[in-house]
Amino acid sequence: MKEFTSIRQLPDLQEALREARYVKEHPFADQELGRNRTALLVFFNNSLRTRLSTQKAAMNLGMNVMVLDVNQGAWKLETRRGVIMDSDKSEHLLEAIPVMGSYCDLIGVRSFAQFESREEDYGETVLRQFIEYSGRPVFSMESATRHPLQTLADILTIEEHKSSARPKVVMTWAPHPKALPQAVPNSFAEGALLAGYDLVIANPEGYDLDPEFTRGATVTHNQDEALEGADFVYAKNWSAYGGDNYGKVLNRDMGWTVTAEKMALTNNAFFMHCLPVRRNMIVSDDVIESPRSLVIPEAANRVVSAQTILKMMLRDL
Ligand code: CP
Repeated sequence: MKEFTSIRQLPDLQEALREARYVKEHPFADQELGRNRTALLVFFNNSLRTRLSTQKAAMNLGMNVMVLDVNQGAWKLETRRGVIMDSDKSEHLLEAIPVMGSYCDLIGVRSFAQFESREEDYGETVLRQFIEYSGRPVFSMESATRHPLQTLADILTIEEHKSSARPKVVMTWAPHPKALPQAVPNSFAEGALLAGYDLVIANPEGYDLDPEFTRGATVTHNQDEALEGADFVYAKNWSAYGGDNYGKVLNRDMGWTVTAEKMALTNNAFFMHCLPVRRNMIVSDDVIESPRSLVIPEAANRVVSAQTILKMMLRDL
């Protein structure tokens, strides 16, 4: 695999899940595969799980790892072509990317929605430049529109806990004080549909996601109705996608917080969230601390998902 920016790029999801289970049981079986290979992880914003789990995954495969925090310690990077570089940005991404590529064998990139323009964010300008100019296979560690390593970990976690072939999975919007990207919910919807789950998406009016990601899911503005009979509740905040409201916070209704009363509507559902999570905004303390909360095993599966993808990419070098 030469590029991994969406779960749809997996040649076969079920085969990838089989590989993931093998990786989980035998984390050090492929130490030779990564010997003398270097992964460069480039972060344009903060991260705890992606940073640590991807490093751990690369180390499990015997790789060397370098991490670059673009906003801490590197030259400030200009991303737009054609601008007169008389601001505080000392280097252009178009030189920086091939230089980075010359130091490594694989590149992981975390870019992020800027919320200046939907077209620019959904065009994935930064990620696409890495793919075009680095000369190396590139994998996404979350981009403006998707978070495929998270999604693969989420699907693996559901597969490990489901008790029916086609569980009802409810992805629900929940309130948050700041504008967050649509990357995780877009990507989760894409993955849950690819996995064949009965996916219901509940969000307030004005928060419908890009249909490109949700086609095939049931979308509703009634959270209680959605939660009835759910086997998994996947909570997430996202900012508005549509119309002139792109990237805006339109609603902070705490009636959407996932509480024990809300979970009581479900089929004793498991609770999931990609983390980091704002307690008592997205989810109440008792729900996230309950025995049905999967947030820690879900985060632990991030090592497995990253290792599965790195392994597939290393094989094709
Ligand atoms: N879930 C996730 O990607 O977490 P980080 O932002 O901490 O990497």
